[in-house]
Amino acid sequence: MPASRRGSGSVTLPTGQTLAIHTRTQDEEDLPHATKKTMADHLRKYESLFTLTPQRMRMIVEAFTETLELGLNKTNQIVPMIPTYVFGWPSGKETGDFLALDLGGTNLRVCLVTLQGEGKFEITQTKYRLTEEQKQEDGQKLFDFCAECLKTFVETNIGEGPGQLKPGQSLPLGFTFSYPCSQERIDHGELIRWTKGFGATNTEGRDVAEMFKKSLEKYELPIQLTALINDTTGTLIASHYVNPRTKIAVIFGTGCNAAYMEHVKDIGKIEHLGIDPGAEMAINCEWGAFDSFEHEHLPRTKYDAVVDDTSNKPGEQAFEKLISGRYLGEILRLVICELIDEGVLFLGQNTYKLEKPYCFDTAFLSLMESDPTDELLMIIGIFTHFFALETTLAERQFFRALAMLIGRRAARLSACGIAAIVSKQGYLEEGCSVGADGSLYNKYPGFADRVHEGLQDIFGDKGRYVRHYCPAPSANLVLIFISYDKKQKRRRSVPPRLSVFNVMRVASLERLDKHVFSLRPML
Ligand code: BGC
Repeated sequence: MPASRRGSGSVTLPTGQTLAIHTRTQDEEDLPHATKKTMADHLRKYESLFTLTPQRMRMIVEAFTETLELGLNKTNQIVPMIPTYVFGWPSGKETGDFLALDLGGTNLRVCLVTLQGEGKFEITQTKYRLTEEQKQEDGQKLFDFCAECLKTFVETNIGEGPGQLKPGQSLPLGFTFSYPCSQERIDHGELIRWTKGFGATNTEGRDVAEMFKKSLEKYELPIQLTALINDTTGTLIASHYVNPRTKIAVIFGTGCNAAYMEHVKDIGKIEHLGIDPGAEMAINCEWGAFDSFEHEHLPRTKYDAVVDDTSNKPGEQAFEKLISGRYLGEILRLVICELIDEGVLFLGQNTYKLEKPYCFDTAFLSLMESDPTDELLMIIGIFTHFFALETTLAERQFFRALAMLIGRRAARLSACGIAAIVSKQGYLEEGCSVGADGSLYNKYPGFADRVHEGLQDIFGDKGRYVRHYCPAPSANLVLIFISYDKKQKRRRSVPPRLSVFNVMRVASLERLDKHVFSLRPML
């Protein structure tokens, strides 16, 4: 057992015997635990650190809105507001077989969808969990892995024979690549930067669509990459398919981001392309980068600063680091470690298991908050099972309250992002729906309600009509229909565009199992 570097821990003697060591602050026979009062005092401190007032939220919204405008009008901005070349919405009448690949922060998913028209479909999907090595090794290797998974999927689920792939026939593929890519056309995407802890080498600055096509060739797959899209853009189109009032889509998962439909006339930085100013184009905001490097607007605590400094991308994705599922558990872990260092928690116990960065999964926060028992048995389970630590009820209540503070701050900051797009687009009066997806949104108890509460704090009375509901009774399907306008491709200076959607994204089947915020005008 490794020795803890803290006041409590253990030493292993040459004989192999382990001795527990700790500094006792009181003379008790049992393990010394913090008193209820101590925990309550500490909680007050964290309450003031992690609580966002409505006034502060409105200030954030104002700065956020300006940042979004800047990204639309100037190139190379921190929040890049990426034009996606996805124009307009699907009709819902599309038919055919479509393949989709979704490379997210945690998993790789492959899906085959047969659209049968009139809203009917069949769907098959496989999910692979990505390893830490795959996230860090050479990028081409990562795309080779994606192609390999696709090959297995195609061989298992498609094959040859009547009604299946004929020799020489190829399937169109939509690739959902959930990282910031600047695009010149729909089947192109230069990776601006990795996020969510990815660091695969030889990939940033390169066209990931090209890299992936190379892997498809290597595995001799009968597949044609037709579109590269961000998960938010996919969710935007899919949510609109389900609920035509949808104007914005947000992802709160391992990462966080938003997309919405913008008038081409308001995207100053692409004026020179000569696209019909009356058209609408989806914008992938990449808002996770808001306030990066300068840290002027967001309420960063010292724990957030440590998360940032010790990440593989210090300074970057400042907004995302306060909100997304990848970081919330780590923020809570850092607070607990500080209290261990101060001799408040776990005296006499070996805390080495808790000292490993990122060992405290965000799912634990979610479990702690939803523990229904008076004794908080779930929290006992988490600490004993994963960290071999004993807790008192007062400590468990403290942990739960802390999780609530961190989760609530994340939800209220998320509300600021949504509010910025709503304000910028003037949707408050006319009303709109926001399609929301991602593990944090779907699985963290109370997250959606806290976002709503946050929107009401920002917008006052008008926010009272913010509602959410699950729009898809059949759930589990996300569609994106993308077709390539060949006439546009022939015109040199104008990037190929999507006119009618006819390639489908079913990237994450869970994703139709989403909620939609309804932003209703006051009656
Ligand atoms: C990425 C976005 C993505 C979001 C949600 C962020 O880290 O930069 O492209 O949409 O995560 O997956």
